[in-house]
Amino acid sequence: MRLLALLLAAPLMGQAPTPAPTAPAFSAHGFFLQHCAGCHGQDGSATRPDGSKGRAADLTDVAWQKANTDAAIAHAILDGKGHMPAFKGRLSEDEAMKLVTEVVRKLQKGTPVKAN
Ligand code: HEC
Repeated sequence: MRLLALLLAAPLMGQAPTPAPTAPAFSAHGFFLQHCAGCHGQDGSATRPDGSKGRAADLTDVAWQKANTDAAIAHAILDGKGHMPAFKGRLSEDEAMKLVTEVVRKLQKGTPVKAN
């Protein structure tokens, strides 16, 4: 009987699966504004509105940008550093790399990142 039930149910199970809700596409800009700007500032320079420097690294610093490879920066983001939290659980390696190439590399002091 169980086999019969399976056979009867088979056509039902064969129906097109309900499409899984598609996860919203990862937005590197949105992620930066939501998770990084609080410490690094919307332009990444860690400058407070009064002009003073915050504790976070100035990601717009040209010398720092030059001295670090994309991979090294992505790693710092994933693993954290000093007071900088690790983002391993919230970012895949691909996403961390996107954050570097699409946002961190394009940061310009005084120009806030825009959600696209
Ligand atoms: C809670 C505050 C805080 C948040 C949130 C934060 N950072 Fe940081 N970040 C810091 C601090 C502080 C440092 C300096 C760490 C040190 O050198 O001790 C830093 C350093 C860095 C560095 C430089 C590491 C190096 O090589 O010197 C990068 C790159 C960076 N942050 C990127 C990001 C990105 C991207 C995000 C968002 C995904 C982010 N941070 C979120 C506080 C934060």
